[in-house]
Amino acid sequence: MAVRDLSALPARCRHRFPIFERQVYINSCSQGALSDAVRGAYQDYLRDWDEQGAPWEYWVDRAEAARASFADLIGAEPDEVAVTTSESPGVSALASALDWRERPKIVISDFEFPTIGQIWHAQERRGAEVVHVPAQGAEIPLEAFDAAIDERTAIVSITAVCFRNGSRLDVEGITRLAHERGALVLLDAYQAVGTYPLDVPELEVDFLGAGVLKYLLGSAGLGFFYCRAELVERLWPTQTGWFADQDIFQMDIHDYSPSATARRFESGTPPIPSLYAGIAGMELMKEIGIEETRLHVLGLHERLYAGVDELGGKIVTPRDPEKRGALVCIRSSDVLELVRRLAGEQIVTSSRDDVLRVSPHCYNTVEDVDAVLAALAKNRELLA
Ligand SMILES: Cc1ncc(COP(=O)(O)O)c(C=O)c1O
Repeated sequence: MAVRDLSALPARCRHRFPIFERQVYINSCSQGALSDAVRGAYQDYLRDWDEQGAPWEYWVDRAEAARASFADLIGAEPDEVAVTTSESPGVSALASALDWRERPKIVISDFEFPTIGQIWHAQERRGAEVVHVPAQGAEIPLEAFDAAIDERTAIVSITAVCFRNGSRLDVEGITRLAHERGALVLLDAYQAVGTYPLDVPELEVDFLGAGVLKYLLGSAGLGFFYCRAELVERLWPTQTGWFADQDIFQMDIHDYSPSATARRFESGTPPIPSLYAGIAGMELMKEIGIEETRLHVLGLHERLYAGVDELGGKIVTPRDPEKRGALVCIRSSDVLELVRRLAGEQIVTSSRDDVLRVSPHCYNTVEDVDAVLAALAKNRELLA
């Protein structure tokens, strides 16, 4: 294998993220680092508000720019994308549009983020049955989905990358099984967007939800929901709001007619400041390059895996690069203490369950990984 130059990508982009002057920030699975572009976008928002008062036409235009930018990232058409305030409202709008009478079953993986599990379990009140596909360690084999999905299944809800162990599911394989049995597929791509190229026509999923605050370098307050064009008009969300209406400016309180596009999954006033920031983050990420970022991060992973092995630590994230995202999870006997001790050395990570989450991105260097490894070596007794 060719030796990768692991300094090239951070050399191009790290200076745009001032946090690296003070800290080893390696926690993009929680939140991307703040860039000069996103800071500037917030300043632009305040300037526009201050100078123009209420430039709503421009602000609505910002929502369209965000929609188009996200659509481009996942290979969708803008009309297939709803602009939401986080991932949850889009998924909830979808749940509200599904009818459980003929097909009451919802199949979800045991790798789902809480919001996904909770949204589907809330549908039990409306007659749905939620079936979990159990994990086998840090993986869920396709056979387990095969056993769970049947002709009573309305939807299969899966995550692209698990937030608690970094594992990737076989999205194409699961989608094929679901479609063969007449079920729809929702992909939670939050831990994937910005870490490797995603293409919805290729994946053939019916719906996709995500947000911008992690590897897309935006901030809280902006999410997206994709619905495949052919499905849009078959779904009538009852969780809604005026920005989902076909004519926002009609101001009609006697009728609700949902938009003919995926905008029908939206609700109220768009998150204007977060739109400015989200557009800046997504555009910066595209400029840096998602494909390059993927190769770079896999190079950093190699070093991290080798270093943790040498320390006798246990990585729970799959060893096969095809089976993981950007997040690598390392088992610890006292992970809260480990995160605290790393923070004491200006190294920012996070934890879930009993694992330390280390999530390198485009801006991280070999030196960042070595700093994590040196800190782990000092705290070896906390590696289970
Ligand atoms: C896999 C995954 N899904 C969803 C979310 C968040 O959902 P929401 O944007 O609705 O808060 C996160 C992270 O916060 C996540 O890691």
